[in-house]
Amino acid sequence: MDRIIIEGGIPLQGRIQVSGAKNAALPLMAATLLTDQPVELSNVPDVADVNTMQRLLQRLGTASTMQAGAPGTLRLQTSSLMSTTAPYDLVRKMRASVLVLGPMLARQGEAIVSLPGGCAIGTRPIDLHLMGLERMGAVIELEQGYVKATAPKGLKGAEIKLPQPSVGATENILMAACLADGDTTILDAAQEPEIVDLAALLNAMGAEIDGAGTAILRIRGRTSLSGASHRIIADRIEAGTYAMAAGITSGQLVLQDVRALHLGVAAERLEEAGLLLEDTADGLSVRTANGGLKGVDVMTRPFPGFATDLQAQFMALMCLASGASMITETIFENRFMHVPELARMGARITVHGGSALVRGQARLTGAPVMATDLRASVSLVLAGLAAQGPTTVNRVYHLDRGYERLEEKLRGVGARIERSG
Ligand code: UD1
Repeated sequence: MDRIIIEGGIPLQGRIQVSGAKNAALPLMAATLLTDQPVELSNVPDVADVNTMQRLLQRLGTASTMQAGAPGTLRLQTSSLMSTTAPYDLVRKMRASVLVLGPMLARQGEAIVSLPGGCAIGTRPIDLHLMGLERMGAVIELEQGYVKATAPKGLKGAEIKLPQPSVGATENILMAACLADGDTTILDAAQEPEIVDLAALLNAMGAEIDGAGTAILRIRGRTSLSGASHRIIADRIEAGTYAMAAGITSGQLVLQDVRALHLGVAAERLEEAGLLLEDTADGLSVRTANGGLKGVDVMTRPFPGFATDLQAQFMALMCLASGASMITETIFENRFMHVPELARMGARITVHGGSALVRGQARLTGAPVMATDLRASVSLVLAGLAAQGPTTVNRVYHLDRGYERLEEKLRGVGARIERSG
């Protein structure tokens, strides 16, 4: 199994090209199931999750090809659905597989999708996805670990109020509503930039969606959608991760294709923590201010709040700040698995329920550590970049799910980082 070995202590210097957003690419790929016409997506990141989604779509009948001579450009066409079943072996690998539910149901009147089950960061149910589709007239049965959704007479527009702004539920309902009969309103919808990107693609395909990026989405149902070309937004989580790589190594990086506002509240917290963020013609420039890193409290919230996907990385940063930091996770109940691994590197962190108290200190020491999920893994890489002595991160397949060419990008700005098989 692959491992990453890091020799820390080098201030990173230079430019990093930020990739397209994985969390936008996956729903956008699922959305192509809504039409029999070709859809071309560019800026698609070359990460394992995109590969898994490609394989799932191929099983459903999608012809999916990377365009020769245009890296990151994917052409997807589902002339007809050959199967309406998303099997357990793919859904269990990647929760975003459940995003084929809404599009298949809307197009074919039927979808059978494995329940994703628990995952390392919590139980992560899909009850809100199902509630929304039921409100649009779907009949949902749970059988042998599978959701069987049918809408023999098609879906009908409805008013759907989410009790909390779930990203996945908003995406599934939004996609289904595009082919429903009549108008749909989603109240308390998620407002993440990835939802805005999904709505932009759907509108380019001929959908009529208003309010993307706000809490109220209004969708006018259409009888069919067409093909389109669309460039995927930059990955704000990857950008935030590399911003913290600059901060934790006292380096200076320019993150190409990104602006500070893409990071939402995280940009403000990073500045309070002692990073200088500046939008330049070249991209977002990040370096540590003269005073060094300072302890700052953060609480994860739906966008524009502090992203749960940046929590683990921020904790690594706070391990080397002066003063203490209280980090509270409100989205997922079990998202502190990086804590014992950071402790192996000398970090002082105490967890009480959903909050972790980090007592900053002057240094971390390298150690063998184990990756447990995507963002936890990259927080260990950040800690390793700053630590004294070598750090070995085991189980790096988690990193490959969501970070494109991580070692290459970090080596390009001076890090000593290698992969070994
Ligand atoms: C979440 C993040 C998203 C991130 C992704 C991958 C938020 C709001 N969402 O999206 O930014 O990119 O993880 O790590 O930060 N829930 C239910 N029932 C449902 C669906 C969700 O109870 O049917 C709950 C979840 O358990 C969670 C909250 O709602 O507590 C938000 O979940 P949701 O936004 O759906 O999660 P993801 O779509 O995976």
